[in-house]
Amino acid sequence: MLGGGIVRGSLILVGGDPGIGKSTLVLQMCEGIGRQNLKILYVSGEESLKQIKLRADRLNVANDGVLLYAETNLTHIEQAIKNEKPDILILDSIQTIYTDMITSAPGSVSQVREVTSSVMRIAKQMNISTFIIGHVTKDGAIAGPRVLEHMVDTVLYFEGERSVSYRVLRAVKNRFGSTNEIGVFEMADSGLVEVTNPSEYMLTGKPSGESGSVVTCCLEGTRPLLVEVQALVSQSNFGMPRRTANGTDYNRVNLLVAVLEKKIGLQLSSYDSYVNIAGGIKIVEPALDLGIVCAVTSSFRNKSIRDDIIVMGEVGLTGEVRGITQCEKRVIEAYKMGFAACVVPKANLKHLKDIEGIKVHGVSNVEEALSKLF
Ligand code: TYD
Ligand code: MG
Repeated sequence: MLGGGIVRGSLILVGGDPGIGKSTLVLQMCEGIGRQNLKILYVSGEESLKQIKLRADRLNVANDGVLLYAETNLTHIEQAIKNEKPDILILDSIQTIYTDMITSAPGSVSQVREVTSSVMRIAKQMNISTFIIGHVTKDGAIAGPRVLEHMVDTVLYFEGERSVSYRVLRAVKNRFGSTNEIGVFEMADSGLVEVTNPSEYMLTGKPSGESGSVVTCCLEGTRPLLVEVQALVSQSNFGMPRRTANGTDYNRVNLLVAVLEKKIGLQLSSYDSYVNIAGGIKIVEPALDLGIVCAVTSSFRNKSIRDDIIVMGEVGLTGEVRGITQCEKRVIEAYKMGFAACVVPKANLKHLKDIEGIKVHGVSNVEEALSKLF
């Protein structure tokens, strides 16, 4: 994620919703760093020493090089940094730390900015790599990590729904590496566990032979990821059909339903359409369109789509299937996961190498795509 390692003297912001697992992530990172004999100063303004110790024990973090310090006053923290001269500094979280120089409350925009720039000065001077943890807040009264993005070298966001165990760590800014990488984790009883095969993880539990379900391939960073698109189309009991989009863009779903009505002639206006991306992941990518279209049609017609096929493509307003980026990468991922056939945009065909073992169908509009499936 950091482009090969932690750059000395760099400032790294780790943002995310409260409770998503930021403290867990950095604590587990301490364990990994432990093998390199580096001194880490972990400043916690949120939890007591006892709480952190309990958690560290639970996560099996056994690193003698980690110094824990429960403190929120910046003056004391600065003193500790000067005394201990750590290689790595962790501030958990930036919103709890305050400086006496400013009268506003801890967590306010001016506090968060001032604390960060003070820490940055010391860290750059002493060549300490610093991790700043920041809560993403919806409430404007408390400053979120966004106000710090321009000050730091690297910004990582830890994302996911708290109700599902799947977590994605994403770089949105990196002065020392690419922002295309993602880390995929599962929150387990013993902390975060890396998911080495995210596609397999996302497809577990996919029903077989059921209508309203199809697999598509999206890109998370540069990583192809197979996901199941589900749709449920049922007779509407009200004058206005209900539409929902779980894990994707609501307006996009409405638009695709309209394309199906107009171009394919499906009478969807008297039906409710519910679309869901299984696994609690959120995807907003044009290549997902064809998956939504096929899942909705499958549910409407009450006909299942064969299990060994995946579909991908952007759908335009005239019902055309448009080219997508990195099609080959996606086809290879489908092949690796044991799929036998792919429906892809015709525009992508000419740049696609033949892959033995997977049949690729190029289609130029929705009608053609559906005729390959039903
Ligand atoms: P936490 O790292 O405290 O989140 P943050 O620092 O982002 O606020 O962890 C959040 C949740 O993760 C916590 O509510 C419980 C859960 N959790 C586990 O499921 N397993 C574990 O091993 C740990 C440490 C936490
Ligand atoms: Mg925390």
